[in-house]
Amino acid sequence: MSKPFYITTPIYYVNDRPHIGHTYTTVLADVIARFHRMRGEQVYFLTGTDEHGQKVEKAAAARGITPKALADEVVANYTELWKAMGMTHFRFIRTTDEDHKAQVQRLFKRLLDKGDIYKSVYKGLYSVSDEAYVTEMQAKELQAQGLAHQLVELEEETYFFRLSAYQDRLLKHYEEHPEFVQPDFRFNEVKRFVEGGLQDLSISRTSISWGIPVPGDEKHVIYVWFDALLNYLTGCPNDSWPPDLQIVGKDILRFHAVYWPAFLMAAGMFQPTTILAHGWWLMGEDKMSKSRGNVVRPDTLLRFGNDALRFYFMRDMPVGHDRSFSFEGFMDRLNADLANGLGNLASRTLSMLHRYRGGVVPLPTALDALDEAMAHQLLEVFPDYLEKARGNDFHAALDALWTYLRALDGYIVKAEPWKLAKDPANDPKLDAVLANLYRALRATALLVAPVMPGMAQTLWECLGHDTKVAEKTFHGFALDGPAIGPIGDPKPLFQRIDKEKELSELEPVAAPAEVKPALDVPEIRETVDADTFFKVDLRVGRILEAERVPKSDKLIRMKVDIGLEQRTIVGGIGKAYEPADLLHRLVVVVANLAPRRLMGIESHGMLLAASDNASKPYLVAPPDDAQPGFLVK
Ligand code: MSP
Repeated sequence: MSKPFYITTPIYYVNDRPHIGHTYTTVLADVIARFHRMRGEQVYFLTGTDEHGQKVEKAAAARGITPKALADEVVANYTELWKAMGMTHFRFIRTTDEDHKAQVQRLFKRLLDKGDIYKSVYKGLYSVSDEAYVTEMQAKELQAQGLAHQLVELEEETYFFRLSAYQDRLLKHYEEHPEFVQPDFRFNEVKRFVEGGLQDLSISRTSISWGIPVPGDEKHVIYVWFDALLNYLTGCPNDSWPPDLQIVGKDILRFHAVYWPAFLMAAGMFQPTTILAHGWWLMGEDKMSKSRGNVVRPDTLLRFGNDALRFYFMRDMPVGHDRSFSFEGFMDRLNADLANGLGNLASRTLSMLHRYRGGVVPLPTALDALDEAMAHQLLEVFPDYLEKARGNDFHAALDALWTYLRALDGYIVKAEPWKLAKDPANDPKLDAVLANLYRALRATALLVAPVMPGMAQTLWECLGHDTKVAEKTFHGFALDGPAIGPIGDPKPLFQRIDKEKELSELEPVAAPAEVKPALDVPEIRETVDADTFFKVDLRVGRILEAERVPKSDKLIRMKVDIGLEQRTIVGGIGKAYEPADLLHRLVVVVANLAPRRLMGIESHGMLLAASDNASKPYLVAPPDDAQPGFLVK
């Protein structure tokens, strides 16, 4: 028998309660775990908390409690939330668990004996806020950002991990295993980092006391990342190693794709796996963080239901990319897709089945071309959804399914079942329509069960089942099988949200904590007549490719789809944006600007960005449902 599918989330710091960023990571893992169970696999799912280190020590001291007491408090927040959201992990591991502490010390000792860990002296710069040693290059970056005050000169005894010895093995592994990091563009960042050369990694501190002591040299505490990463080993039952899929945010990819495999290689335990790095939920353009005061907590959104939040996360975020969160966008999505979309389709279908067929699902006897086409679309969308979900792309899977659900709405409009019902001569046609709709909903309940377990079960029961949909498997599911009995009573799947009311009652998310300097607002430019203005061809574009122009820290070369064609555009936005974060963004392009050469590359247009000249450029973003090629006027 094959080993269980082993999936992990990062373990969360306990210096703050969960916000929607943390919640998203765990929902993604849970959806994938549930999906694999419904593929008939055994699944082992691990999550937990990362409890040691200076930040926790300080946060606890500020509250006058012990670090462990603080951790217990935050852990309770996490475990309650995960329970309320129906997470299906098998173990919630804490780095303060005894078996974990023993594991970390055992492995440290083993690598020390083997020579992969050695004691030496670190002399150089240290970043106080990141709790990390800083290379010369990083120091220059911090200085350029005006953050030099965070750096201190340091000389201390420390244990090093011989990371430099693993550079070649890591690069070889990357080359042989293109599936090691998803998505590809994030993998490229990792490769470039390792190709740039690896230095040995300091993995102990004498300045911290809240942590696991180095065995036999107790004034040293083991560095929090060495401790934290090993949770995946401690928490893994014997039959499940290695992890099949490790979900991480893009900010901690390097730790997982460089340090973690190197530790395992040193321990002789490394085996191929896949690391899936997702992007961030942003507030506007900023990362959500407690210090910026702009975090959204899950309870604010869970009022609309656990299924709704899970659906929103999976439907709106293309895995790997960043996404701006907006409360309005959240409500629009749920109203459009769950209240109007699936909810409406289910209630119409169920009520027609009751009204016209007394709750008994008819067998289709005669299909016309339209009925055939709809039945055929189901046969296509079902495997398509499964394949996309198997690639962890629930965004695309749900998109495909909802396109089909919209087509079903159109089918009802065209077939006009209410007219068919008036004349018994139309019975075969009405049977075909009702059977098609029933089958579509039955398949939908099955497909969305990993994403919306509660709603899928409700729908499943409305369709007349008394089983658990989550216990079914996709494989061998008879899409055109007959109904097992009469359907149940219709129940509403999702209550439409009164957006205006919600918005008026919404507590504003705290304004950013830092005080922004007064804007240096430029004077209004000279008046132009409308004809002059309309000569400028502005249109919506989508960025398809983005990479830095060699030897320039400012210029980024992009390929942009503007509807009619794809353009190469070079933009001076490299200090404000990473190429990876530009991909798939909608932008506004000046499409009829004369081409010009920038560092040897011909640029055919310009992207609109807002700025007060003193600060960074903010790319102007059309709404999500705009299409490349739309004119902006
Ligand atoms: N403790 C480390 C992980 C150690 S794993 C061996 C850590 N913890 S964290 O609590 O700061 O973050 C945990 C996860 O939450 C990360 O994957 C991070 O990317 C994710 N998120 C935190 N903020 C986020 C958003 N705003 N959006 C999406 N995910 C984000 O790092």
